[in-house]
Amino acid sequence: MRTKLLVLVAALAPVVTFAAGGEVHLDAANVDVTNKASLQRGAANFVNYCLGCHSAQYVRYNRMAADIGITEQQLIDNLMFTTDSPHQTMRIGIKAEDAKRWFGVVPPDLSLIARSRGADYVYTFLRSFYADPAKASGWNNTVLPGTAMPHVLWELQGIQEAVWAGEPNAAGDVRHEFKEFRIATPGTMTPEEYDAFVRDTVNFLVYIGEPAQLQRRALGVPVIAFLVFFTLLAYAMKKEYWKDVK
Ligand code: HEC
Repeated sequence: MRTKLLVLVAALAPVVTFAAGGEVHLDAANVDVTNKASLQRGAANFVNYCLGCHSAQYVRYNRMAADIGITEQQLIDNLMFTTDSPHQTMRIGIKAEDAKRWFGVVPPDLSLIARSRGADYVYTFLRSFYADPAKASGWNNTVLPGTAMPHVLWELQGIQEAVWAGEPNAAGDVRHEFKEFRIATPGTMTPEEYDAFVRDTVNFLVYIGEPAQLQRRALGVPVIAFLVFFTLLAYAMKKEYWKDVK
């Protein structure tokens, strides 16, 4: 018994350490994929601000439109910039080798990013860009230090500066202990509006990570209700059948 327990603990230990290992604090995204209005806003944010560099190659436009509750005409009018066929997937115009030349890395496809990194990660990442004159792009990020992604939403959020705490380390760098952000130049949105904008965008990314989850969630409650009902029915029938068998 004790050995079994030890084996179990040993097997789980790496998972536990990994979970505790993350240095950056992630804020809760609190997304709700059943909120269609939020998904619609998120889809618009995504095509306007992300699709220029990032594809979502597993997402087909017309299926997405049906899932988030818009008509094909609304889709064509508002969300389709990189293709004219609703049957296409969300691809981008820029070539991988151009992107590589501009950014040093190819911007990843975002179809599965919310699943691989987690919604909280993406939510915090998009809110953690700060001005860094030492970087070629002028931007850095506390969640992904040294990132090649520029702050594409800076006009909305404004320009943040990072405030560091603690003493410089051996290399004279103070950026090991992050204290807080300070908005140096306000953007067109208040911090609350910007958080909501990012939340909608992340909500959309969570949805495209598993489009079937909307159906799965919608089916879940009726299925459980049926199972409960059926169990009660089966129990009542069993009682009825066995009533006279003594
Ligand atoms: C100007 C091009 C550009 C635009 C527009 C852009 N990104 Fe990026 N993004 C990049 C590049 C380049 C990377 C790769 C960064 C790296 O690996 O350092 C990246 C990486 C990412 C990552 C992965 C971070 C990680 O941990 O690997 C996420 C998430 C992301 N972008 C989300 C978005 C979202 C959401 C939008 C729209 C609001 C967006 N990006 C718009 C260029 C862009």
